[in-house]
Amino acid sequence: MYETSLAERPVRTHAIKVHDAEGFEGMRRAGKLAAECLDMLVPHVVPGVLTDELDRLAREFILDNGALPACLGYKGYTKTVCISPNHVVCHGIPGPRALREGDIANIDVTVIVEGGWHGDTSRMYGVGAVSPRSRRLVDITFEAMNRGIAAARPGGRFGDIGAAIQNYVESQRASVVRDFCGHGLGRVFHDNPNVLHFGRKGDGETIKPGMFFTIEPMVNLGKPHVKVLSDGWTAVTRDKSLSAQFEHSVGVTETGVEIFTLSQTGLDKPPIQGLV
Ligand code: MF3
Ligand code: CO
Ligand code: CO
Repeated sequence: MYETSLAERPVRTHAIKVHDAEGFEGMRRAGKLAAECLDMLVPHVVPGVLTDELDRLAREFILDNGALPACLGYKGYTKTVCISPNHVVCHGIPGPRALREGDIANIDVTVIVEGGWHGDTSRMYGVGAVSPRSRRLVDITFEAMNRGIAAARPGGRFGDIGAAIQNYVESQRASVVRDFCGHGLGRVFHDNPNVLHFGRKGDGETIKPGMFFTIEPMVNLGKPHVKVLSDGWTAVTRDKSLSAQFEHSVGVTETGVEIFTLSQTGLDKPPIQGLV
């Protein structure tokens, strides 16, 4: 996701790209592989696994499939995936840290396939048995992403997406992170537009067939405010409340959107074990 703070945002004033059939074909390949990578990780997300081990599995999977990990080397990032447990909002860096029973964690992967097309997707995973409030947050966040996707249609506005997400999340007494947003993508990883996960219906640019972008809301059980740790990447909730995120890459068709990063095996929301 992209930083929305004005200080960090590069000037990206060019028009939002409109892609052709070849672009859709490339994005289908990229999205499918990214989803398969997250499918592959499901049985490995267990108590005691090191986040570095999950990163290694993802990297080898991507390379074995003839693709490249987009994050590796991106702006100095040294890993393949971001793994963001519990109060980590996004951009958690894999390392020699074990996941523990009861954790919830987002794993975010971006692949680059032949032709340069990017598939960017993330999901929440439960580690062993998970508390009802954590599971509820995951459910709210998945529903928020899906409402955002459902609000994306040709002739509509980007604000329709943000409004659908924000209205739903706040109706559940949770909050939407403002400091990071979705983004255009294609042969560029982070392109125009910034896709805000809050806003007002009817605001923003018109959504047109051929536009490719991500929808990737971050939702907190507490306040929306975040801070970035001294490693320069890890974003956490200021109030230490739990945070969750899901992400899909989509392309606008004549009638709605095509989701490029759908799981072929029904794992878009990996099952989470409950307590008792
Ligand atoms: N995949 C993230 C996104 O959704 C970007 C991660 S950039 C990294 O846009 F460098 F932190 F990996
Ligand atoms: Co993204
Ligand atoms: Co991502």
